[in-house]
Amino acid sequence: MILAEMTKLEEIQAAEARLLIHTYDRFPVLFVAGEDVHLIDEQGNRYLDLLSGIGVNALGYSSKVIQETIAQQSCTLINASNYYFNDKMAGLAERVTRITGMDRAYFGNSGCEAIECALKLARAHAGILREEGKQIGTKFLALEQSFHGRTFGAISATYKEKYRAPFEPVVPGFEFVNFNDIEDLRAKFSNEVCGILLEAIQGEGGVRPLTQEFFAEARKLADSTGALIIVDEIQAGMGRTGKWCAYQHFGIKPDITTLAKPLAGGIPMSATLCTNEVARAFHAGMHGTTFGGGPLACAVASAVIDFIENENLLDHVNEIGEYFQAQLRKLAERHSCIVEVRGKGLMIAADLDSAELGKHAVTEMLKHHVVINCTSDTTLRFLPPYIFERVHVDTTIAALDKVFTAYAEAQVSK
Ligand SMILES: Cc1ncc(COP(=O)(O)O)c(C=O)c1O
Repeated sequence: MILAEMTKLEEIQAAEARLLIHTYDRFPVLFVAGEDVHLIDEQGNRYLDLLSGIGVNALGYSSKVIQETIAQQSCTLINASNYYFNDKMAGLAERVTRITGMDRAYFGNSGCEAIECALKLARAHAGILREEGKQIGTKFLALEQSFHGRTFGAISATYKEKYRAPFEPVVPGFEFVNFNDIEDLRAKFSNEVCGILLEAIQGEGGVRPLTQEFFAEARKLADSTGALIIVDEIQAGMGRTGKWCAYQHFGIKPDITTLAKPLAGGIPMSATLCTNEVARAFHAGMHGTTFGGGPLACAVASAVIDFIENENLLDHVNEIGEYFQAQLRKLAERHSCIVEVRGKGLMIAADLDSAELGKHAVTEMLKHHVVINCTSDTTLRFLPPYIFERVHVDTTIAALDKVFTAYAEAQVSK
């Protein structure tokens, strides 16, 4: 049987076990289609989706604007390489610089690539400063519980040892600062540091926001030596938190930022953005990629940004996010297993009192046909599409209520 004919979950599971390098432990679900905020499995079951392909499918699964843009651009030109101009990249650069407040953009294909570019920019920028007579080193500071991706530079800046240990030695020159610990930041900062890498709201680390004071101190320290503040907005950016970038909630501007996941509505794409000051660190040939910024991805990303603006989706994200958090807090009054509810916009977390329940809740919710995720063992993370409505929140809360009630009953009868 050729692979294209495989339509049954069991056949695909067996084939993948034989043919794929084992990098993912998957839930035994086969999604074959999507519609609005729902995923559909091969038997036609509809699942309410609060994961969005890990924060990717911001406009849901049947966005006309995405479908039409892909159809039109794929019939016109998909990619012709970065040796030549294309008629979609500059328009997207105008949009992403406007929404982030940055001056210049570089386009790649995935989040970790955007991080690699950011790290290279920071090291090269420090090199220029040294040539200009400044004393600045090559070290990076990153944060406890950070996640920046799986390439070598990105894992070097990623906190959890399990991501780095099998691949040692990783890129040297990275040190981790305790989360929101200003004293630790001050102690580890020096003119050896060329960049401080932050997520304004940590994603994989458990939807944890920086404090205003910590972020401001990082900005102040960096300014004192010429080091750069790099804010990774790959998960929190592009409107997920109700503003285009999560750092905009703090009123603090980075020198470099990164966007990816929802940027091109599901088509792989990322952007690294920076100030004019930082951009002078690169000249032609210092960085590049074959696929980055091709006309298909650029056209879709521009269409996504225009749609979010034209439909005032950021206001909607804020409104639904507030409703969602309020409903979760009410749920927490009935279920003491929820110890904290936090988040911004549609990047929301409910912290549970046990890792066992975290895992259990994700599996049980899937049985109720609701897709959620648990990160950092005990944090239920909700990243629904921006087109989520109150009725979808209500369905989610009702399913969570059932799962927590059944779990509590099972604990009592143990
Ligand atoms: C904050 C953050 N940075 C970087 C990445 C890496 O992105 P990618 O998986 O596209 O390489 C992720 C992915 O989850 C992320 O959440």
